[in-house]
Amino acid sequence: MKPIQVGLLGIGTVGSGTFEVLRRNQEEIRRRAGRGIEITMVADLDVARARSIVGDGVQVVGDARAVIANPDIDVVVELIGGYGIAKALVLEAIAAGKHVVTANKALLAVHGTEIFAAAAAKGVMVAFEAAVAGGIPIIKSLREGLTANRIQWIAGIINGTTNFILSEMRDKGLDFDVVLKEAQRLGYAEADPTFDIEGVDAAHKATLMSAIAFGIPVQFDKAYVEGITKLGAADIRYAEQLGYRIKLLGITKRVAQGIELRVHPSLVPSKRLIANVEGAMNAVVVQGDAVGTTLYYGKGAGSEPTASAVIADLVDIARLQTAEPLHRVPYLAFQPDAMSDTPVLPMSEVVTSYYLRLRVADEAGVLAQVTALLAGAGISIDAVLQREADEVGGEGATSTDLIILTHNTREGTMNDALARLQQLPTVLAPIVRIRKEELN
Ligand code: HSE
Repeated sequence: MKPIQVGLLGIGTVGSGTFEVLRRNQEEIRRRAGRGIEITMVADLDVARARSIVGDGVQVVGDARAVIANPDIDVVVELIGGYGIAKALVLEAIAAGKHVVTANKALLAVHGTEIFAAAAAKGVMVAFEAAVAGGIPIIKSLREGLTANRIQWIAGIINGTTNFILSEMRDKGLDFDVVLKEAQRLGYAEADPTFDIEGVDAAHKATLMSAIAFGIPVQFDKAYVEGITKLGAADIRYAEQLGYRIKLLGITKRVAQGIELRVHPSLVPSKRLIANVEGAMNAVVVQGDAVGTTLYYGKGAGSEPTASAVIADLVDIARLQTAEPLHRVPYLAFQPDAMSDTPVLPMSEVVTSYYLRLRVADEAGVLAQVTALLAGAGISIDAVLQREADEVGGEGATSTDLIILTHNTREGTMNDALARLQQLPTVLAPIVRIRKEELN
């Protein structure tokens, strides 16, 4: 059978990894796919650099639209990123009848509904394994391997940059700002790290997993997103003393009233495997009703790990290209006419437990005041940790940290209680609230 012809849009880190792995493993991949997979055309603004990566046998152009216009190209791999030109090019490729592979989580999380509808109308595939957790085959696992299950929840460390920063903060006892600078110097964090540290990248990925797990449309605008920029070394230390680690988790969960979709720092029991995922690694826990708990671990970024996911999609396309569109695996795991309108819940309706840190005056009755206010709000306390004032603020200090772990509480109830606690004259600084997930 004639090799499938692939056009790359963008040949940066992931594109060059894809080219190299396809070249190195071409025989093995051909034996699996049943036909060859060849990158025959590459578009990149830096034509000279692209040429130096792919050599002479591949057509290199500066204009991505030339790839889309080439009738010999079967599959367009979009590795540009972002919502701007990438969106236009993906829609144009689909309109030209090309299958599309993309690593672009932002594009699909925000515009996925439009893109999948366009692809369905044209009968082409849009595959995006590389968009979530890099080399970990989590999309295929959710969409196919776990297809028997009613998925109950997913919790993942799906951003390597923030996991690296949190690991460094814990290991070295440093605050966020210091570690971020070091991570940028070492190349672990981008010069503009906003999407990573504010949780946006993780929320894009959680949005895609949520759609596939529950058969709902992609709805990034409904996700609750909170990053790691406000975390301090003290909270990481206190969490440790209570038997927890702090991780930035992307969580999506099916509950009676709807679907939770949220990204925020979370206390996770230290004994859980996922709590021990360190550095830039990713991990995703999936709870299904039949299979129970499953855990997926690996590199969430990088040239060849991400290329591994891109090429897996190319092999799927090579195998399924001749199948009737209706007999292919659906884009979002569920048949388009069987999608559910189960709502994504507002954050105020989410129920979880909490870690609270209050900087309080070290005087009689303060603990009683705080616990009375929580009791009045119907919030049940699980554990309390109070440090000696001089341990926190040095000799002669008159304030201290009061750390409270709560049982499950509705977020709206907690918000009201926090607003009232903050008004107490004995509470001396903004209260730190971190959600806690037992993941059992
Ligand atoms: N910036 C991401 C991360 C990788 O740090 O995990 C690409 O999504």
